[in-house]
Amino acid sequence: MSDIAEFRNAVETFIAQRGWTATRFGRAIAGDPLFVFDLREGREPRSETRARILNAMQDEGEATALPPLRIGVAGLGNVGATLVKILQKDGEELTRKLGRHVTVTAVAARSRSRSRGVDLSNLAWFDDPVALAKSPDIDLFVELIGGEDGPAYAAVRAALELGRPVVTANKALLARHGVALAKLAEETGAQLGFEAAVAGGIPVIKTLREGLGSARIARVYGIMNGTCNYILTRMGKEGISFAECLKAAQALGYAEADPAFDIEGYDTAHKLAILASLSFGCEIAPDEIFVEGITAITDVDIKVADDLGYAIKLLGIAQRSADGIEQRVHPTLVPKGSAIAGVDGVLNAVVLETDHVHELMLAGPGAGGAPTASSVLSDILDIARGTRVPPLGVPSAELTPYRQASMKAHAGGYYIRLNARDVPGALASIATRMGERGISLESVIQRPDLRAKDSVDEGAPTRTVVLMTHETMEDMVREALDQVDRDGFIVGRPQLIRIEALS
Ligand SMILES: NC(=O)c1ccc[n+]([C@@H]2O[C@H](COP(=O)([O-])OP(=O)(O)OC[C@H]3O[C@@H](n4cnc5c(N)ncnc54)[C@H](OP(=O)(O)O)[C@@H]3O)[C@@H](O)[C@H]2O)c1
Repeated sequence: MSDIAEFRNAVETFIAQRGWTATRFGRAIAGDPLFVFDLREGREPRSETRARILNAMQDEGEATALPPLRIGVAGLGNVGATLVKILQKDGEELTRKLGRHVTVTAVAARSRSRSRGVDLSNLAWFDDPVALAKSPDIDLFVELIGGEDGPAYAAVRAALELGRPVVTANKALLARHGVALAKLAEETGAQLGFEAAVAGGIPVIKTLREGLGSARIARVYGIMNGTCNYILTRMGKEGISFAECLKAAQALGYAEADPAFDIEGYDTAHKLAILASLSFGCEIAPDEIFVEGITAITDVDIKVADDLGYAIKLLGIAQRSADGIEQRVHPTLVPKGSAIAGVDGVLNAVVLETDHVHELMLAGPGAGGAPTASSVLSDILDIARGTRVPPLGVPSAELTPYRQASMKAHAGGYYIRLNARDVPGALASIATRMGERGISLESVIQRPDLRAKDSVDEGAPTRTVVLMTHETMEDMVREALDQVDRDGFIVGRPQLIRIEALS
């Protein structure tokens, strides 16, 4: 038999054994969907082309020899349904990349009748996520239910106890139980992936855990809540109030009907707790984070900050300090020229400051079905390839206890906005109280026209005074403001926003 006849035979056998179509062979192996049709019509490919295709067939043969990875997905909401859709659509492409079939075989959710825009007809259905996690018919369990306890926690534990790999996007679960789950995974030899739990589609976990190698992180900070960033961006660009922006965010589906978790900073705190552990090799400590949300930020603050060359962002920041690790979430004045100031709308960004690579910023979509499912998929691919890393970057026994640096000792610049009574001596007295505590002022702005759109008329005539301090200690600023309040020259609560020194 001639070479070409043998080649034709090999191709046809390959196609028949796998039940492939000629087009699929053409696309996946030859890089030309019409290749097999041309071959059948007598076209003779060159010897180099034949060699290339025989090699690709051999690779594919080895690839498909590995058992398929059967995935069980619990939670078919925004992220879960999108993940199933992607795996169904891109299955072939993934098999080629991985050398292994990856396929969803079973799912769990609450409502069996709800339409999810995805074909579930060939998948096993479970009402109970724990039963799915324990099913002998899956190799990997994906948790996309949400919540720090309840069915998500029970199901993840059940899978890990059996030594079964788990992928989750659940930051609340990780922030609360991350160390215990990592320990359990190490004990049973299971992998635990959670790329999607922080900053949605941005691969920050992998970057910290694997990409940066031995680099020592000095500070990690970022915009990790798209709802807050959307609100602050619109307030800044359109000069509208916090309340109006929140309503718009809810109408567009960016903010939940109950937005408290986002706008009060707790969502950012969960993500920061996970990043701090990966950055500093310490235990996850979500309750030790100083958290201040964005609800008190007014259009006046945004306008004055802008005039002074700053944007206001809700940042989560973790850094080493002399007495431990500082973890804080609060609205922050960032210089307009800094990279993070340009991250607008619902985008997220995380900046990693290290000794070796200096500063690295990762920016992109922090939420949404497709970006989040893409991060879940990246963990699934790692597991399918057999990549093994301790879930928190170092073995859980090596994690150091978290030592919280006191917020009182935080050193930085401060933006202070006061409603000062319009009486002689008020401003001088405020400046004196600052001076008594060694607080040096960079600028003092006093303008009668500054009044927040949301502000309540306080009756007495006041002037808005904005002080910008040089670096000072937080407790000095607080002491000075308590004294200013006692002196009776201000009306209402002072607004205090921290300034972050950034390049
Ligand atoms: N959405 C995002 O942009 C995003 C971004 C990053 C991370 N995440 C994380 O991804 C996870 C999923 O988020 P999502 O937005 O997809 O949530 P979602 O749309 O609310 O979906 C939750 C799913 O869980 C199912 N579920 C709830 N309780 C259940 C129970 N007891 N038993 C079985 N199934 C149950 C629901 O079933 P029914 O549909 O039948 O009610 C629903 O399919 C969360 O941990 C979230 O924090 C989401």
